[in-house]
Amino acid sequence: MRNKTGGELKWWQKTIAYEIYVRSFKDSNGDGIGDLNGITSELDHLKELGVDAIWLTPCYVSPQADNGYDIADYYRIDPAYGTMEDMEHLIAEAKKRGIRIVMDLVFNHTSDQNEWFQSSRRGAENDKSDWYIWVDPKEDGSAPTNWRSIFGGSAWTYDEGRKQYYLHTFLPEQPDLNWANPAVRKELQSVAKFWVNKGVGGFRMDAITYIKKPERFSDGEADAKDTLAGIHAMTANTDGILDYLHEFKSAVQDGTDIFTVGEANGVFPDQLPDWIGENGVFDMIFQFGLVDIDLPDENNWCETCSWSLKDFKSFFADSLQSCETAGGWFPVVLENHDQPRSISHFFPKDDKRDARAKALATLLLTMRGTPFIMQGEELGFENVSWQSIEDFDDISTKNHYAFSLAEGYSKEQALESVLRFSRDSSRTPMQWEPGENAGFSTAKPWLPVYPDHDVYNRTSEKKDPGSVLNHYIRLAKLRRTCRELTDGDYTELMPENEQIFSYRRMNESRKATIFINFTNREVSYDPACISDAEWIFGTEQNAKKGLLRPYEAVIYEAPVS
Ligand code: GLC
Ligand code: CA
Repeated sequence: MRNKTGGELKWWQKTIAYEIYVRSFKDSNGDGIGDLNGITSELDHLKELGVDAIWLTPCYVSPQADNGYDIADYYRIDPAYGTMEDMEHLIAEAKKRGIRIVMDLVFNHTSDQNEWFQSSRRGAENDKSDWYIWVDPKEDGSAPTNWRSIFGGSAWTYDEGRKQYYLHTFLPEQPDLNWANPAVRKELQSVAKFWVNKGVGGFRMDAITYIKKPERFSDGEADAKDTLAGIHAMTANTDGILDYLHEFKSAVQDGTDIFTVGEANGVFPDQLPDWIGENGVFDMIFQFGLVDIDLPDENNWCETCSWSLKDFKSFFADSLQSCETAGGWFPVVLENHDQPRSISHFFPKDDKRDARAKALATLLLTMRGTPFIMQGEELGFENVSWQSIEDFDDISTKNHYAFSLAEGYSKEQALESVLRFSRDSSRTPMQWEPGENAGFSTAKPWLPVYPDHDVYNRTSEKKDPGSVLNHYIRLAKLRRTCRELTDGDYTELMPENEQIFSYRRMNESRKATIFINFTNREVSYDPACISDAEWIFGTEQNAKKGLLRPYEAVIYEAPVS
């Protein structure tokens, strides 16, 4: 596949983005919880990684039922994370280093503690009464439909006061907003403009495909196991959603140079032209094809399905192709705060952890698109291996564990799936130094620091030239010096090969050819396509053309003749 090149890229297309899980990044005041001043104190770490956009997970006032994805006040910072002055200071200090702050806008739902919901539940007679999705019970008093929320259990909760049910795509503590009400849309635009005026560089739009509810609420096809029907199939990406999003875009984004990335589960490749590019509603969207590669079905949490490297590679080829057709841009993501760690997710556990991490880093930073590094990914973090459900914090993990048991899975099976998928794996505190609490905090962290922190931490890795961190730093520099890694087109090579992921990035003057061995065995390939090229980067000393050692990644470059 060839992409059109040329044309000046926008700043966010040339950037490396970095996701910070605010609660777990760095604690500056010794309460065991990461905070904004902690982030400000580590901006130089990010600068060295070549990062120029930081996506912060929600740090607004929140009762933290879902760690900030339940917002009680969009205009204020949660005291656990700091003050508005701390936020302004962070934005300013980041700006000095050429880094922009990207906020997470959670607009499908609020917290049940939000004043808007508190008013709304007071009855049908106030100005917020129609701000949420209130529906009368069925005649027998049961919920309006049989929908299952994404975190499990009914998506409806009965409110004694209003004698009605309200809808929640996620937890009962996260009631869905009623986007059909123009006053709601207007208020959400004001929230976004408030943050644009604070100087942020962009927005990640949480769970955005769920905002438009269908015209009529009707039952879905129930699963025998719990007599419920997954809400995703009923409410994701319904007709009319784009009107709301176009309205948002012209009110908030037009005339600014911010970028937007939508968390858009449920958008199919052929729909991309409506979502990204000139006529779309966002600059990029996060898709789920890769992270869900081993999930047979969204409602069945304990099962996995097998996948091959060909499937993995096709995700990139197909996504890049469809983004290109749409005239849009691709976000490259292997991990985020909802996903397991990529070296555990995409590879079997073996004794070559660093090599696995470097292989994936090479992919992340040489693929066409804007790479998003999840905090800790640059240090080679792997999944937690806690042995009891009591050790976990994440509410969706706990719910899924309980629902798995209720569905007849054994405790061992339920724990196995928790270890495979739990969102806590990507949420353990950052590891800055060897020693107690890994330099994350002087107090006991809210979530345990992972036991490998004496080896896998920023300070130790910084000193070791062969570390995962130094591999990231070198790759980030390479991405700047070899411009084809940013603006070059993408051509997959050897698509049928089940061991090697290989592709070429080429602009008008240079071409880079990348080879990544996805196995822990030595493998060979035909080096004819790099006969005129020179080695520029690799994970091993003395790379040999035509041969790759376990998980070896290597890049060759040549001028375009
Ligand atoms: C998104 C977030 C996730 C959150 C959910 C509900 O998927 O990434 O962390 O739990 O939305 O807001
Ligand atoms: Ca703190």
